[in-house]
Amino acid sequence: MAKKRVLSGIRATGRLHLGNYLGAVSGMLVLQENPEYETFYMVADLHTLTTPYDPQTLKDDIREVVLDYLAAGLDPEKSTIFVQSQVPEHLELAYLFSTAVSIARMQHLPTYKDKVKQYPQGNTMALLYYPVLMAADILVYRADSVPVGIDQEPHLEVAREIARKMNLEYGTNFPEPKRFATKGEYIPALTGEGKMSKSVEGSFINLTDGLETIKKRLAAAPTDSGKGETVPEKGGVANLLSLVELFEGKEKREEYKKAYTGAGISYSELKEGLAKAIDEELKPIQERRKKFEENSALVDKILQEGAKKARKVARENLEETKKAMGLI
Ligand code: ADP
Ligand code: TRP
Repeated sequence: MAKKRVLSGIRATGRLHLGNYLGAVSGMLVLQENPEYETFYMVADLHTLTTPYDPQTLKDDIREVVLDYLAAGLDPEKSTIFVQSQVPEHLELAYLFSTAVSIARMQHLPTYKDKVKQYPQGNTMALLYYPVLMAADILVYRADSVPVGIDQEPHLEVAREIARKMNLEYGTNFPEPKRFATKGEYIPALTGEGKMSKSVEGSFINLTDGLETIKKRLAAAPTDSGKGETVPEKGGVANLLSLVELFEGKEKREEYKKAYTGAGISYSELKEGLAKAIDEELKPIQERRKKFEENSALVDKILQEGAKKARKVARENLEETKKAMGLI
C-alpha cells in the first residue's frame, strides 16, 4: 500500500522557540519515525514575505530554521527537507486553487484579521492569499496529516474546503488534511498573556538558549504572592505551571498546586527547577546544531536533494490537477 503523506512548514521569521518545538516540530518527529508515513518538511519562505521582512537577511533566516529542524532531529534519511520556494509547483497549484475560494471567505479568517491588525500597512494580496498557498503546500503532495499548533486550525479548515470543492468540480482526488495535534499544541507566553510567539518580546524561550538565558527569561515571567485559595487558571502563574507539567511532569505540577493552597510556592525554586528541566531537554538539540552549523556544505546538499525529491512528487500531482481542469 502507498504510504500516507505528511507535510509541515514554519516561516523563516526567527529562531524557533519552545512553542514551535512542542506544537509543530515534536509532531513532525513523531510522524517521521512512523514507517506508515512519508514525511515532507519545509521552510515556508514564500509565506515569510506576507509580513514585513528584511531581504538582506532572508537567506540567513531560512538557514536558521533548517538548522533548528536538523538540530531538533529531523533526519534527511527519513524526511524530505526543503525550502518552499525551490519547489515552484506549490505556487502554480495555489493559483489553480484560488479559483475554488471566495475573497470574502479569506477576509473573514481570524488569522488574516489578526495580521492586518498587527501590520495595518501590510494588508496585501499575498497576505490574503496565505491560506490558498498553504493548502497548495499540503495538497501538492496529497498529504493528509499536518503537524502544526492549534493556531493553524483555521488554515487547515480552508485546505479541507478547497480539497472538497476541487474534487466536486473537477473530479480530482485530494484528501482532506487533518492537523496532527501534540500535547504542546498551545504553549502559553511567559508574559502571562496569549501564546508564546516570536513576535512578542519576553514571551518565548528559544531552542538555542543556554541555562543562563533560560533563567533570565523565566525570571521576568510575572507571578503573584505564591499563595491563595484557588490556583489561577490564567495568567503568569498558570502558564508557568503548564510549562512545569510539560517539562517536569504532571506530578510536579500537582505538588505546586498543593503548595499554592497550603504553605505557598517559592517561585525562585520553581523557576530554578523548571530552567534546569528545560535546559536538559535543549542540550542534545544544541549539540546536534553545532555539528550542522560547522558543515554548511552538508546542509546545502540536504536542501538540494530535498527539493529534487519534493519536486518529483509535486510535479506529478500538479500535472494531474491541470489535466482534470482541462489545461492539458
Ligand atoms: P510564531 O507565532 O512564533 O511566529 P509561527 O506562526 O511561525 O510562530 O508558527 C510556527 C509553527 O509553530 C506553527 O505550526 C504554529 O502552530 C506553531 N506554534 C507557534 N507558536 C506556538 C505555541 N505557542 N504553541 C504551540 N504551537 C505553536
Ligand atoms: N502557516 C504556517 C505557520 O505560520 C506555516 C506554513 C506554511 C505551513 N505552509 C504550511 C504549515 C503548510 C503546515 C503546512 O507556521
